Amino acid sequence: MSSSSSSKRIVSVPLLALAIQLLFIHSVLSQSQNNAFLYHKCSDIEGNFTSTSPYESNINSLLRLLSYRVPSTGFASSSAGNGPDNVNGLALCRGDASSSDCRSCLATAIPELRQRCPTNKAGIIWYDNCLVKYSSTKFFGKIDFENRFYLYNVNNVTDPASFNTQTKALLTELTMKATAGDNEKLFATGEKNLEKNKLYGLVQCTRDLRSESCKACLDGIIGEIPNCCDGKEGGRVVGGSCNFRYEIYPFVKIA
Ligand SMILES: *[C@@H]1O[C@H](CO)[C@@H](O)[C@H](O)[C@H]1NC(C)=O
Ligand SMILES: *[C@@H]1O[C@H](CO)[C@@H](O)[C@H](O)[C@H]1NC(C)=O
Repeated sequence: MSSSSSSKRIVSVPLLALAIQLLFIHSVLSQSQNNAFLYHKCSDIEGNFTSTSPYESNINSLLRLLSYRVPSTGFASSSAGNGPDNVNGLALCRGDASSSDCRSCLATAIPELRQRCPTNKAGIIWYDNCLVKYSSTKFFGKIDFENRFYLYNVNNVTDPASFNTQTKALLTELTMKATAGDNEKLFATGEKNLEKNKLYGLVQCTRDLRSESCKACLDGIIGEIPNCCDGKEGGRVVGGSCNFRYEIYPFVKIA
């Protein structure tokens, strides 16, 4: 199904946890799967609701609304219900996903999230093409430091020190591009010539963030390159508010 060059390891990183405490979960994503499931997390902190409660119907109506609204622009956030039954949520599609890819990703992700976190007051799920999150906390505009994981290509580069430097340079340049005043999508892709091959990169933030917060979020995860993917041919740090990916093969969809 997939060659070793496309297999990835996925690692969950609770905020502030040391890199050593990483939990190895899951492997083998094929490059050819265009909407692979990546990871999910149900919050233990926010507690549970009972089924058929107002909280549950608010989650369902919120997620339904997001599934309608998001495909046209690639992002929406919304809230449902009041007081203790208030639920907040957002969904984001990858910046290069077409609206039909976006719609189909959400059509998979939303029921899957409800199934995996059936009574949790907060949960998040990531696929290659989309992210869906809901919570009883009003999190809009705040960087999500709680939800984060790493993915990397198992293959090692031959010159890790210079490769890491080039990777960091490309992703930093893309961060500037994604957070420039006129870039409403908080998304950028680009490439960089290396000595023997080419490096391809992507950065993206959820659009509830202001561009300064997006930059802070991306700077933070780019700083994790030594932990996530030191000397690896490909890597991603994926969070609830921002993510990056780099590879030595082109992976961005051409519109
Ligand atoms: C929520 O539900 C899960 C699964 O039923 C249970 O393990 C957990 O202890 C519950 N948490 C709280 C805060 O009640
Ligand atoms: C990459 O390097 C690590 C650490 O040196 C090693 O454990 C791993 O087997 C290498 N991966 C491959 C695909 O050779």
